[in-house]
Amino acid sequence: MAVELRKITRETVRAICDPKVADEQRGFVAPNALSIAEAHFVPTHWMRAIYADEEPAGFILTHEDPAEETYYLWRFMVDERYQRRGVGRRAMELLLERWRARGAAAATLSVIPTNPGAITFYESLGFRLAGEEHRGELVMRLEFEPLGS
Ligand SMILES: CC(C)(COP(=O)(O)OP(=O)(O)OC[C@H]1O[C@@H](n2cnc3c(N)ncnc32)[C@H](O)[C@@H]1OP(=O)(O)O)[C@@H](O)C(=O)NCCC(=O)NCCS
Repeated sequence: MAVELRKITRETVRAICDPKVADEQRGFVAPNALSIAEAHFVPTHWMRAIYADEEPAGFILTHEDPAEETYYLWRFMVDERYQRRGVGRRAMELLLERWRARGAAAATLSVIPTNPGAITFYESLGFRLAGEEHRGELVMRLEFEPLGS
C-alpha cells in the first residue's frame, strides 16, 4: 500500500476529519477536527494527513521545536479500516526520516497506559518506555543513532 504524508489544504480538510478509530479506541486519541483546531494555536505544530493508495487514511500532528530540541508526536491515528495493514508503520517511518534529516537527537511521545496496542506498535519502531509519566500518560522515547555512524 502506497503511504504518503500530505499537507492539509482548504480543499482536503473536511476529508481529513473523516478517518475514525474503532469505538473502543476513542479514548486514545482526540477527533481529528479537534486536533486540527488546537494545532492552529501552537506555532511550532507540524501536521499532515496520511494517505494510503490516494485515500485519506489517518492523521499526524507533531510539536517540533529544533531550538528546544523538541520532536514530539502529539496526535497519531489510522482509520480503523486501514489498521493492521502497515499504514501506521510507514507513516511513522516517514516522520522519523523527517526528524532525523532535521537533526533530531531523540523523538518523544506519550501513551495512555490502557493502550498496550500502541505501546507494542511504537516499540516495534524503536521507541522505549522512558519510565516517566506526563499528565498520566507513559512517556516513550526513541534515541536516533548519530548520523554517519
Ligand atoms: C496505533 C495505530 C496508529 C497503529 O496503526 P496501524 O496502521 O494499525 O499499525 P501497523 O499496521 O503499521 O502495525 C505495525 C505493527 O505494530 C504492532 N501493532 C499495531 N497495532 C497493534 C495492536 N493494536 N496491538 C498489538 N500490536 C500492534 C504490530 O507489531 C504491527 O505489525 P503486524 O500487524 O505485522 O503484527 C492504530 O492502531 C490507531 O490509530 N489506534 C488508535 C489511535 C491510537 O491509539 N493512537 C496512538 C495514540 S498515542
